[in-house]
Amino acid sequence: MASAFLQRGQTTPILLLDRTELRRWLGQQNVTTRRWVENAGFTAKPGSHCLLPGRGGELKAVLAGKRDSGPLYQLSSLYKGLPKGGYHIAPENQDELLPAELEQLFLGWGLAAYRFNRYKRQSAGKARLLLPKALKPAVSALTDAQYLVRDWVNTPTEDFGPDELAAAVVQQAESFGADVGIVRGDELLTQNFPAVHAVGRACTRPPQLIHLSWGDEDRPGLSLVGKGVCFDTGGLDIKSAVGMLKMKKDMGGAAHVMAIARLVMQFQFPVRLNLFIPAVENSIAGNAYRPGDVIPTRRGKTVEIGNTDAEGRVILSDALTRACEDNPELLLDFATLTGAARVALGTDLPALFSNDDEVAGGLLAAGEQVEDPLWQLPLHQPYRRLIASKIADLANVAKSGFGGAITAALFLQHFVGRQIPWVHVDTYAWNDADRSGRPSGGEALGMRAVFHYLRARYR
Ligand code: BES
Ligand code: ZN
Ligand code: ZN
Repeated sequence: MASAFLQRGQTTPILLLDRTELRRWLGQQNVTTRRWVENAGFTAKPGSHCLLPGRGGELKAVLAGKRDSGPLYQLSSLYKGLPKGGYHIAPENQDELLPAELEQLFLGWGLAAYRFNRYKRQSAGKARLLLPKALKPAVSALTDAQYLVRDWVNTPTEDFGPDELAAAVVQQAESFGADVGIVRGDELLTQNFPAVHAVGRACTRPPQLIHLSWGDEDRPGLSLVGKGVCFDTGGLDIKSAVGMLKMKKDMGGAAHVMAIARLVMQFQFPVRLNLFIPAVENSIAGNAYRPGDVIPTRRGKTVEIGNTDAEGRVILSDALTRACEDNPELLLDFATLTGAARVALGTDLPALFSNDDEVAGGLLAAGEQVEDPLWQLPLHQPYRRLIASKIADLANVAKSGFGGAITAALFLQHFVGRQIPWVHVDTYAWNDADRSGRPSGGEALGMRAVFHYLRARYR
């Protein structure tokens, strides 16, 4: 992250303008400048820019077309387009924006500078942007958090199985003095996490429940749960090749809650933080859990497995039960849970479910403010009948394929205490194509919305 920004030095101004502002600005320039801009064909079209030379041919300033869609991705397209050198945002632009908008503006630059360099060096932009001191803590923390999600999701399962995921959580915990407890392999049975074990037992890399805790125990409890399926083959109900291709990203929920936890610790929110990640691979082997099996859960409810590919909700059932044992004042889970949520809302809009309208409203509003939108879907109680089972307390898949994101959320609700305000986010954690500021591959979707909400709630 550090490399995309500068803290000091000689820099060239970037002036953001819309068409009207460009006309006014040109009116104040000499004829040479006016001709230059005209010949360059620069009309302040959103996303376009124009390099302005000084008398000696040196770069004097950059004009850039303003977007009307909000500040976040304003600078993202500039990042790769500018020549090597240091830049700053013109003071007049800084003055016209609120501090929160400025934060977004600079964050967009940081997000555009992301490269996944683990397996080969990717070409990066050579421009550096002067980051005002007051903005540095928030912009760098948010950039780092989003990079964490992208890096974790982009890393192939071979290098990011349950053990590596646990090690990565330990590494994060160490920087903040947090504690981590790990229940691994057959210990999951003795410690009563039977559902996590059932899903993960077919993999040679043992399943685990990772628990990070931080902050004084007498503070209000904030608990986070993230789906950590390091790879989802579908299990015995095996996925198609196309369906399986991206399934290294099925720990995206875990990455999202880790990023949120990091921000909570970094900004020292006055909470008792508990983070739970059930980490497994949904594999195929002779000892795999099967369609038709009935498995026990920590909550005591039995679950009939209608489809081994609906594994996320199964492991989350134990993690949510465990999280509720701390009686938190807010419980949030993130999961790449259903294809149905993507059919309903597309790739960019995570589905939000909640048993608390006030919290849901706050999160939706926060998402709007930071250009990280979420869309609420209902916990429609009558659909509970769809996940009833004849021989067990409930089934892990619905009788009807319709409303799949809702029936998955209703399944989770069975494992959340009625009195606990709870939010479930079904996210895609991925960009299918490159857009400026949003490279294809792993992506945080809904993470900044949650942070923005928590920031207002706890500070
Ligand atoms: N990890 C998938 C959900 C998923 C698929 C998320 C594609 C994003 C993109 C999940 O474990 C799954 O396979 N769900 C099934 C559930 C079905 C069997 C009821 C699904 O959505 O098809
Ligand atoms: Zn699955
Ligand atoms: Zn899955």
